Amino acid sequence: MKRVAILISGGGSNMVRLLESMTGDHPARPVLVASNDPTAGGLAKATSMGVETVAIDHRAHRDRESFERALLKALDAAQPDIICLAGFMRILTPDFIDRYAGRILNIHPSLLPLYPGLNTHARAIAAGDGFGGATVHLVTPELDAGPILGQARVPIHPGDDPETLAKRVLAVEHRLYPAVLRRFAQGDLARQDLSDA
Ligand code: GAR
Repeated sequence: MKRVAILISGGGSNMVRLLESMTGDHPARPVLVASNDPTAGGLAKATSMGVETVAIDHRAHRDRESFERALLKALDAAQPDIICLAGFMRILTPDFIDRYAGRILNIHPSLLPLYPGLNTHARAIAAGDGFGGATVHLVTPELDAGPILGQARVPIHPGDDPETLAKRVLAVEHRLYPAVLRRFAQGDLARQDLSDA
């Protein structure tokens, strides 16, 4: 059974879907939810789902390295095999990523390699794209550039704004991330795209 830690910064709707998925014959179980923001709504949801949580406030640390040392201490204690970033909005240093190389997954709200970074939906709309979507990828030191494990796309309709598109994309994220995690936990690195999106 693989041990999964999830890192969040906000409401944690993807986290909830990942936690809900890890039951029955699933090859993984959640061992920790960690947030850099003590007020992240996802922390209470994880607690209510019976998962241990920890908040490590990045603002209480003088630099990124000090914050990451504290985060790594909590993570190492939980001994995760896999770390899922789920709306985790801090950039991780190469040292941190090295420690769990090949075992950190991220979900990003665009069809990578299009639109790494922030404001993905506004950029897709401004470019006149016909499709938006989400990508689950392995985390490497280069931002949002690691090997792609799965993608789901949605149409962009005339009149969409970043909020309407974000809502449509989030709905497919909720199916994509659990599907990719299940396969990844089984040791299957083949790319998995959601075909009906
Ligand atoms: C999701 O749309 C996720 O793709 C995005 O943040 C949202 C988190 O929602 N992640 C990033 O932008 C990472 N750079 P959630 O907290 O409800 O899961």
